[in-house]
Amino acid sequence: MKKFKCAACGYIHDGEEAPEKCPKCGAPKDQFVLLDDAASSLVERSRHSNALHAEVIALARQLEDICNDGIEDELDPGCVDVFTKSRAMAWKIMKLSMTEVQGHMGKGKWG
Ligand SMILES: [Fe+2]
Repeated sequence: MKKFKCAACGYIHDGEEAPEKCPKCGAPKDQFVLLDDAASSLVERSRHSNALHAEVIALARQLEDICNDGIEDELDPGCVDVFTKSRAMAWKIMKLSMTEVQGHMGKGKWG
């Protein structure tokens, strides 16, 4: 499927032709540029990778919640220690993916 990028805001439209106006910023059709195969492929790959990072971030947040429950449960010092360490690792995992996605956005690998 062809991809057209709004020159005004960067919105990427998937379709056989550019939309009449940008759904994001309202720019007219003539503001859309057809992406070549390499750029289209990069968009697809970026969408996939960004979705994976979003999934990792969501799972890390779930892990944090589980660890918080475990810390609050406070069965014994060993459990609290494991949950505390695991929560810190979940936070780090979340931050790693967030930073990578932030880098993608800065390079236009989003949309
Ligand atoms: Fe736009």
